[in-house]
Amino acid sequence: MKNNSNDLSHFIHLSEWDDSEMMEVLSKALALKKENYRNPVAREKVLGLIFLNPSLRTKISFETAAAHLGAASTLIQPGQGTWTFETETGAIMDGDRTEHLKEAIQVISRYVDTIGVRAFAGLENLDEDIEDQLMQDIVQYATVPVINMESAREHPCQALADGMTILEQFDQKPQGKKFVLSWAPHPKPLPMAVPNSALEIASRLGMEVVLACPPEMTLDKRILDGIEHNANHHGTRFSIEHEQERAFQDADVIYGKSWAGPIVYTDPDEEHDLRTREYSNWTIDQSLMSVTNNASFMHCLPVRRNVVVTDSVLDSPRAIHIDEAENRLHVQKAVLMKLWGLL
Ligand code: CP
Repeated sequence: MKNNSNDLSHFIHLSEWDDSEMMEVLSKALALKKENYRNPVAREKVLGLIFLNPSLRTKISFETAAAHLGAASTLIQPGQGTWTFETETGAIMDGDRTEHLKEAIQVISRYVDTIGVRAFAGLENLDEDIEDQLMQDIVQYATVPVINMESAREHPCQALADGMTILEQFDQKPQGKKFVLSWAPHPKPLPMAVPNSALEIASRLGMEVVLACPPEMTLDKRILDGIEHNANHHGTRFSIEHEQERAFQDADVIYGKSWAGPIVYTDPDEEHDLRTREYSNWTIDQSLMSVTNNASFMHCLPVRRNVVVTDSVLDSPRAIHIDEAENRLHVQKAVLMKLWGLL
């Protein structure tokens, strides 16, 4: 029997780790990659992976990371072999959802050593999404450490893989390099977790950070205040640019991503129109890349070719999105080792 404890070592927000802890994990991930690390040091551990939303990279890289450490993993996909979950506190469960997350997380905690959870933003209540309410509920129910595999607010494992890729790209000296996160069009309103996290890791690595987006797609002030703080702390600059080509000038990294503007919470039809029509010319192409400082192109994937970014950019030698995806495996191996006291 495990007791509930508030001092469990969860990995929910990257900001919960100070810079030295974060760099320790990134250094470990780089070393693990170099030696193609496979060692059953966690032979008796079991990792539960709960996906409330689909995944390719996160699912396979966590399962593989666990396997390389000798640990077992079990996949929980509500409605696909496990019961459907109700997530709302106080819900009257007379619909088609069978089991409340409150019981499910407590029960899973009795079986496994660590739980990974993917739970995207609902895009209905901005405050709940920014405060990561659902992930906070899950942490309250859990009696084992919880890993954020992308929540409403952030995607810390993606951020670590992005940071590792940037360290590789700049021979571990990214300080002062210009990192541009560029909004791009998309047919669907995507959450803001990845862009929030991409800005966080770049600012914490001491890069000059630019958010390039149409005015209506500017990320939430509560997130941007944190990025400003990081930039000040690292003696670098954070700015917002609404003219895409100007933002791309002399950039060293272009990180392409689409997300729904905060207006999606109040006027989804207007947001859809802006994202798919008004700003459809924000697709990242060779012409934009040509004004950069021979920038590397990054994207967390999955990516909509020729909507978010053109084939010619994705298929060019400057695109490092496949390395970035591979690095999910190495950083998550390091995260598991940290949580399991194996660093
Ligand atoms: N980048 C990322 O998290 O990919 P998946 O959604 O496929 O897991």
